[in-house]
Amino acid sequence: SRTAVVIPAAGRGVRLGPGAPKALRTLSGTPMLVHAVRAMERARAVSLVVVVAPSDGAKEVRNLLDEHSLSDVVVVPGGETRQDSVRLGLAVLPDDIGTVLVHDAARPLVPVDTVDAVAAAVRDGAPAVVPALPVSDTVKEVEPRGNGAPEPVTGTPDRSRLRAVQTPQGFAREVLAEAHERVAREGEGATDDAGMVERTGVQVVVVPGHEEAFKVTRPLDLVLAEAVLARRRA
Ligand code: CTP
Ligand code: MG
Repeated sequence: SRTAVVIPAAGRGVRLGPGAPKALRTLSGTPMLVHAVRAMERARAVSLVVVVAPSDGAKEVRNLLDEHSLSDVVVVPGGETRQDSVRLGLAVLPDDIGTVLVHDAARPLVPVDTVDAVAAAVRDGAPAVVPALPVSDTVKEVEPRGNGAPEPVTGTPDRSRLRAVQTPQGFAREVLAEAHERVAREGEGATDDAGMVERTGVQVVVVPGHEEAFKVTRPLDLVLAEAVLARRRA
């Protein structure tokens, strides 16, 4: 069976500050989304790419992809949350897709080797695979206050057991579809797709991620992304 990629790109990018939706902001003159699509299309295993566009911007995204000779990419409008957007992308996959990768448009510089490693692990039989890196900061658990007041620390997890997860996350199609159906039924939230799969009792495994697969979230991340592209051109 074939492998598809769903690229959720429907977010506003609030933390990046005012401007176009994050996926349409440019890096070295090219929209982040175009970088992300090209990064996924470079992977040998990928035979279909579905982009989930801002719900009011599907036409604009269609035109943008056409302008960049990416007319084979399927575009669907997204939803309120990332979870909704991924579900809307999954809904348009043809029947012969057996493996699904889900990749944030906000991780435009993921190296092809990382994509290949995730896809290969799924095809070798792992039902759910996430790329991740060891965390470099010590992480505290706190009693959240949210108003800038000092927050009481409730624990310090052993850092050697923690991993910061990235995308693309890869899944046997039915495993991801079942996890999304369950979450939709039970109305729970999750910050990543693997987190939903974990709740269905399916074993998720981690493979090595890559520092260039970082997520563009805040303005400083744009500076880093431009620097990575400049280094690649050098
Ligand atoms: N995403 C989506 N649909 C949503 C929300 C997010 O498809 N309703 C996508 C984003 O476009 C992004 C990915 O999910 O590619 C990861 O989300 P995040 O980094 O949080 O992006 P935004 O939600 O756009 O940013 P912010 O949270 O700062 O607004
Ligand atoms: Mg968000």
